[in-house]
Amino acid sequence: MVNLDLISFRDIDKEFINKVFEKATIFEHSSDAMKYTDKIVFTLFFEPSTRTRLSFQTAAKRLGCKVVDFNEKVSSTKKGESLKDTIKIIDSYGDLLILRSEYEGAARFAADISKNPVVNAGDGSNQHPSQTLIDLYTIKRLKGRIKDQNVFLFGDLKHARTMHSLIYGLAMFGANIYLVSPYGLEMDANLIKEVEHKFNVKINIMKKLDMSLCDVLYVCRIQKERFQDPYEAKKVQDEFKITKKLISNAKKDMIILHPLPKIDEVEREVDESKYAKYFEQAAFGIPVRMAIIDLLLSKEGN
Ligand code: NCD
Repeated sequence: MVNLDLISFRDIDKEFINKVFEKATIFEHSSDAMKYTDKIVFTLFFEPSTRTRLSFQTAAKRLGCKVVDFNEKVSSTKKGESLKDTIKIIDSYGDLLILRSEYEGAARFAADISKNPVVNAGDGSNQHPSQTLIDLYTIKRLKGRIKDQNVFLFGDLKHARTMHSLIYGLAMFGANIYLVSPYGLEMDANLIKEVEHKFNVKINIMKKLDMSLCDVLYVCRIQKERFQDPYEAKKVQDEFKITKKLISNAKKDMIILHPLPKIDEVEREVDESKYAKYFEQAAFGIPVRMAIIDLLLSKEGN
């Protein structure tokens, strides 16, 4: 286990994840642990974010850190300063960097430059590892275990970085994985092969949801900002929806998760159903992100 940074699910192992879970369980019950009053955490978000940015900032503050939020609009990025120079400066000012970028590989690039730990808070369509840690923690907390759960990944599997990290995490913990996506938005076949080969699992590709089989329904929105033609996004968005009717024959303990934001892919009435657990999932973001920051700042993740 070598984890100075949190960049991709490709680099982390069960030992690190179990440490995150252990610490998150403690932080869930004692949410103030002012351990790092001498540390400064920088959040650097080049793409919009509500949960990831705010929950990382809240988690850092609950650990006693000071938080500085980089505002791109009033920064020298606007004058044309490179990401490399920006990262170098932040690295010399703070102790931990949390970065979101539209570019795949940006977090890895930043980690190579920084001597301090870097967290990938989403890099284009590539990876979103802290979200996956929250997702796995939520499944474990609400269903008791991840192994052997029938987990359906539903939505834009081509562009959603949350799904590209999650498929790794689910396979690592022995879940049964089913993929359902609109035509043209399937998960990259190479990624599927990579995960199947690495974890010796079979990933099931389905044309539609089978609610009689489903234990966890993980939904994501159509990532329209990553489409060449916005009209194409609108077309699939209207077709692909979780409705009350669709979940009427679900198993009684089925849960619906979503990284949020949700737009039109979940009917409003579904929020009121006993199956909807995405707000609870978002709340687990605080203890899980406290655990991540704690592991990286204490260097226990190494
Ligand atoms: C996701 C993201 O930014 O990838 N949001 C999040 O961090 N919870 C999901 C999305 O934008 O669809």
